[in-house]
Amino acid sequence: MKILAFNGSPRLQGNSATMLAHAISGARAKGAEVELFNLYTMQFSGCISCFTCKRLDRERPIVCAVKDDLQPVLEKVRDIDALIIATPVYYGCESAACRALIERLCFPYLNYADYTKSHFPRRIPVGLIYTMNVPSELFTRMGYDISFGRTRETLAREFGSCKMILANNTTQYNDYSLYEANATGEEKKAYQEAHFSSDCANARQLGEDLATGNPCND
Ligand SMILES: Cc1cc2nc3c(=O)[nH]c(=O)nc-3n(C[C@H](O)[C@H](O)[C@H](O)COP(=O)(O)O)c2cc1C
Repeated sequence: MKILAFNGSPRLQGNSATMLAHAISGARAKGAEVELFNLYTMQFSGCISCFTCKRLDRERPIVCAVKDDLQPVLEKVRDIDALIIATPVYYGCESAACRALIERLCFPYLNYADYTKSHFPRRIPVGLIYTMNVPSELFTRMGYDISFGRTRETLAREFGSCKMILANNTTQYNDYSLYEANATGEEKKAYQEAHFSSDCANARQLGEDLATGNPCND
């Protein structure tokens, strides 16, 4: 059982990386071999719309043709059994690097002739982890269910299934007295102490489910 894990945050010890580490640890505990990529340490772009992956004279499945740090990683996707992607929310979306990954990862498998028939040859589960400042009460009002749901559906359509988990109202600064913020350090700390360990437990469970091949169909 091989899994690729992607951290879509520039903060290598941040909330997304922490949630991802729990997912990886859950997957490894169930015997999976997991390889981690920190997207912000790699040089790569989003899709450049070359349409090489849509040419009829190429044997499918085609891996993205753009030659950069991401290309050899996308080659590995051919042989994996599951994927985990963790991202901070930036302006109501995935981070820029995470969006670039999703474009390059998914577009070659999108079947323009029939959207219901992915070019990815197998059905594998995907785990999608979002961490964000917004508290859970505002999640739907901000339209995040729709925005993230669209990404979840894209991944599920191309790969088979996708389960999304969240961490809300995350901590951004070590010392809130030094930075602009809409909450005090004490408020953040109290919230985190009450919630973040259960968010991390959810991430660990996600990793275990991916490693044991449990379908992620919610
Ligand atoms: C450029 C930028 C934009 C952000 N936009 C949002 C946002 O739209 N909604 C939100 O809930 N949090 C937003 N945040 C907060 C982060 O998503 C949140 O703190 C996240 O947990 C950071 O994850 P990390 O520690 O893995 O980097 C933003 C942070 C940055 C730096």
